[in-house]
Amino acid sequence: MQAGLCIAMGATALGAQSSGYGLPKTDARMNRFVDSVLARLTLEEKLGQLTQYRGPWGLTGPQTREAGAADIKAGRVGSFLGVRGAAATRELQTIAVTQSRTRIPVLFADDIVHGWRTIFPVPLAEAASFNPEIAERTARVAAVEGAAAGIHWTFAPMVDITREPRWGRIVEGAGEDPFLGSIIAAAKVRGFQGRSLRDSLSLMATAKHFVGYGAAEGGRDYNTTDIPLRTLHEMYLPPFEAAVKAGARSIMAAFNEIDGVPMHANKRLIDGVLRDRWRWDGILVSDYTGVMELLQHGLSADSAAVGRLALDAGVDVDMVSNIFYKDVAREVRAGRLPVAVVDSAVRRVLRTKYELGLFTDPYKGSSTAREQALTLTAESRSLARTAAQQSIVLLRNERNTLPLTAAGKTIAVIGALASDARSSLGGWAAAGRAEDAVTVLAGIRNAVGSNGRVLYAAGAPVEERDTTGFAEAVRVAREADVVVLVVGEHQDMSAEARNRSSLDLPGVQQQLVERIYAVGKPTVAVLMNGRPLSVPWMASNVPAILETWYLGVEHGNAVADVLFGSVNPSGKLPVTFPRTVGQIPIYYNHKNTGRPSDAKERYTSQYIDVPFTPLYPFGHGLSYTTFSYSAPILSRAKAGTHESVDVSVTVTNSGSRTGEEVVQLYVRDDAGSVTRPVKELKGFTRVSLAPGEQRTVTFRLTPELLAFYDLQYREVVEPGTFSIMVGGSSEQLQRTTLELTGRVHVLDARPIR
Ligand code: GLC
Repeated sequence: MQAGLCIAMGATALGAQSSGYGLPKTDARMNRFVDSVLARLTLEEKLGQLTQYRGPWGLTGPQTREAGAADIKAGRVGSFLGVRGAAATRELQTIAVTQSRTRIPVLFADDIVHGWRTIFPVPLAEAASFNPEIAERTARVAAVEGAAAGIHWTFAPMVDITREPRWGRIVEGAGEDPFLGSIIAAAKVRGFQGRSLRDSLSLMATAKHFVGYGAAEGGRDYNTTDIPLRTLHEMYLPPFEAAVKAGARSIMAAFNEIDGVPMHANKRLIDGVLRDRWRWDGILVSDYTGVMELLQHGLSADSAAVGRLALDAGVDVDMVSNIFYKDVAREVRAGRLPVAVVDSAVRRVLRTKYELGLFTDPYKGSSTAREQALTLTAESRSLARTAAQQSIVLLRNERNTLPLTAAGKTIAVIGALASDARSSLGGWAAAGRAEDAVTVLAGIRNAVGSNGRVLYAAGAPVEERDTTGFAEAVRVAREADVVVLVVGEHQDMSAEARNRSSLDLPGVQQQLVERIYAVGKPTVAVLMNGRPLSVPWMASNVPAILETWYLGVEHGNAVADVLFGSVNPSGKLPVTFPRTVGQIPIYYNHKNTGRPSDAKERYTSQYIDVPFTPLYPFGHGLSYTTFSYSAPILSRAKAGTHESVDVSVTVTNSGSRTGEEVVQLYVRDDAGSVTRPVKELKGFTRVSLAPGEQRTVTFRLTPELLAFYDLQYREVVEPGTFSIMVGGSSEQLQRTTLELTGRVHVLDARPIR
């Protein structure tokens, strides 16, 4: 038996002692240069530096004016959203550095979220891999391809935690857990930014959307949020702090308000948390028309006033509202906004351009030749396939229905999504093209080849209530030895402004599933979706279910790799799957309440019409093998509140084939000065084990990982007992108890506010 030791460190923590991280090196030469440029600018030119116009690809919200050469020459543009390609960006940059009075280069930004032309799994899918190394590598490739196309700045990673599966943008983030979300956020920032922003193949990363966007009431995008202070700091802020610690040089403001203050005017959180508590000095960019939306929020009826509010709150760049340029100058001249506030924002923008090396090489080596050479390479496709394989979650596999054998078999592939190449890419697919994507149907055909027969029927559209295709689908199923049903949502049913009031299969797909299942052949369901789905009938009847989300250009090949067993699935759910939309909010790190849910006790927190448990819990994911866990062993059963403790667990592959397992560590502070969640993820690591092989995994539990905000809103670790839990999901856990003794350990006495 092989016993190895690997230390899996916990990641970010609540507001870890702010040591000024995120501040670029104090570079006197840079500051002198920036001040020399600033000194030469008129007020209008300063405001031009703070203005972002959209380019041809930048219409990602309400209609706005596209900027062009005249705007650049006049000094009205500091950056562009949505200008694509080395040729187009070089053309506009040449105007900026040769025909404008200031000669200041412009920044080119775009939404490079999960790939540029090589599209990788959507972020929610990639989070299911619980593999930060893969997340970093895919971001690195996205950066290379985007930078080769002349982009300097990506509006990613989206780090919004959410417990709202109705919300369309759940697909863009890493799910419901702040610990996983923080590790992924940091990995993405490292991947996008690389070793240095000066590197011609790096992109400036943007942690978005600051903050609390995922708490939109009703799951309706842009809606009001209601976030208690502790929840804000323990749930929604940590991934932003992790991104800042990882060096993110940009953050985007969120559309929502918090406690009556829209984020685009939220000085308390922008200045108070980002600038003061975390001492971060990057650039804060508005969201699309976010400054103008302060009018709709009702902060003022005057656009100059909302421009002043946003600038004064710390918003540095006005994305496509054009209010900073058009209206703020008169606020300054009327003495209502000190020019020093404008200068601070302009300094940050100029420093960014300096850090990116644009003043020395405005083109950063971009060329159409380099763009073609570095885009959609065989290596990037191979990485896309690996990332996709690891993002697939095996939800159910009764009677070992999976993996399938293809030889000599007739396989019926049924479902409109099986041939939907565009949906394979998911939302926010940047420069991705449907023709680059391998569909599930194509992937199965690639895998089966001439060894078997593959039949196809769409069966039913995804959304329309049209059952006319059922008969053909039933006929095809009858002719087959095994049926692969591909159902779910098409890609335009999630992402921005694509919210659903239901989590059921759209259209008549549920009826199709039941009709095909009734044919009586061995049936496998493949889900393609951008959010948790409530599929209780399927979960009780269809023997095998794969969650495949939208996996990018290699979607179909990765699904086939898992279906036919060349890859053993290893993904775990980064979000809870409810039984029904009526259970929302439902998440794993919930409070115990005074009457914890108990089906055997009437007067406890539960429903009369569905079980209180989820359909599938956070961290759930099966394998074609099985894993067993020893009880966790502590390096010490007792420790001081200021000390770290190691937690070791031995994992055994108790099955018959090699597999990867995501070993998870959860902690519960059994009693605190305020109520604490029944469990919180505080560590995870992937281990690959051959049949019979064992591995001892050790996690280091540090005070930062056990900290929370006490009654005085200080970051502390309190003495008392902690339940320490390890296992392969948030519900399959082995436990032990740690006791911390001594005084309250204060990590940060500055109360959050
Ligand atoms: C959109 C999104 C944001 C995106 C921006 C630019 O409205 O909210 O995530 O980066 O506009 O496309």
